[in-house]
Amino acid sequence: MKVFGPVFSWVLLSGVLLQAVAPWGAARPGKARHCDAPKTQRDFNSFLWRVNRMPPHPPAYLFGTIHVPYTRVWDFIPNSSKQAFHSSKNVFFELDLTDPLTISKLTSCQLLPHGENLQTLLPPDLYCRLKRHLDYVKHMMPYWMTADQRGRGLYADYLFNAIAGNWERKRPVWVMLMVNSLTEWDVRSRGTPVLDLFLAQEAERMGKTTGAVERVEEQCHPLNGLNFSQVLFALNQTLLQHESVRAGSLQGSYTTEDLITHYNCGDLSSIIFNHDTSQLPHFINRSLPVHDRLTAQQIDSYFRHELIYKRNERMAQRVSTLLQRNPSQYTTV
Ligand SMILES: *[C@@H]1O[C@H](CO)[C@@H](O)[C@H](O)[C@H]1NC(C)=O
Ligand SMILES: *[C@@H]1O[C@H](CO)[C@@H](O)[C@H](O)[C@H]1NC(C)=O
Ligand SMILES: *[C@@H]1O[C@H](CO)[C@@H](O)[C@H](O)[C@H]1NC(C)=O
Ligand SMILES: *[C@@H]1O[C@H](CO)[C@@H](O)[C@H](O)[C@H]1NC(C)=O
Repeated sequence: MKVFGPVFSWVLLSGVLLQAVAPWGAARPGKARHCDAPKTQRDFNSFLWRVNRMPPHPPAYLFGTIHVPYTRVWDFIPNSSKQAFHSSKNVFFELDLTDPLTISKLTSCQLLPHGENLQTLLPPDLYCRLKRHLDYVKHMMPYWMTADQRGRGLYADYLFNAIAGNWERKRPVWVMLMVNSLTEWDVRSRGTPVLDLFLAQEAERMGKTTGAVERVEEQCHPLNGLNFSQVLFALNQTLLQHESVRAGSLQGSYTTEDLITHYNCGDLSSIIFNHDTSQLPHFINRSLPVHDRLTAQQIDSYFRHELIYKRNERMAQRVSTLLQRNPSQYTTV
């Protein structure tokens, strides 16, 4: 017998890669705001949208996720969203992160062409600063890790290699993103799956059919498409910022904390429209010289165009196609 189960479509507010794209304008002082924990289910805000379809087709759902450890947001996700997930037989993510092929494609997309490495590619002074910074991170890793992480058998060396191993073979844009993510905050949150990965693992565990609405290349190629001078600029700016944090002259970023707060408060407009909290790169710094500011603006608008607008359109089209297909194609019992 065929049963028409609901088709659950997840469309994500931010990308797997965007997760890594922490802001260059990261040095914003001030603590993250807190929003009161909801007291009743009705007080919960939700990033769940229901798409009603003509009977006998069941409704489909869109759910906005966030790439942070799921434990930071799980208690703020209302039961209705969790219920929709449970009742769905098909779940579509942006990428299929449970597929080893996806991971290996992501990894190879980040590598320089065969035979090239950063030492020969980068200007010597920039290369030295990069190396010095990564040595510093490696040194700090054991102090940054939490007792909980150690208790779960994570080692500092292992963690460093998992994040930064093979960095000399990576394309500079990916090294830049990596440097950005190698903060104490990020290191402390490693080892817990981010929300999408957690849901993908749950979906798999519950025997749901999973799929993806994006291909790795579609996320990866736009980032590789920045030209060399733009990448050098971004890497330099990123290093300058992290060097300042290291020197104690600049506070670390609360941006991810802010994003979590907005998510937990159900504050969609802040997540999407507030530059300070978006995970899109933006490092337009008012004190930059005019020429540098122009470069920063060009990179910013390039990312905005490639990673937000074009991507939204493409994903919307895929979701629309999925919704129009006969649900029986997806759900069989
Ligand atoms: C802006 O750039 C200047 C000069 O490069 C730097 O000293 C300052 O720390 C930067 N500010 C932020 C918020 O990144
Ligand atoms: C939400 O779901 C949990 C777990 O299924 C349940 O224990 C709780 O009572 C539910 N809360 C409401 C208000 O429905
Ligand atoms: C890189 O792209 C920017 C913006 O499109 C352009 O102004 C610049 O000349 C390019 N640089 C190189 C080396 O191609
Ligand atoms: C990095 O940026 C600083 C400040 O804008 C500049 O003085 C320096 O020449 C840049 N270094 C490289 C390697 O681009």
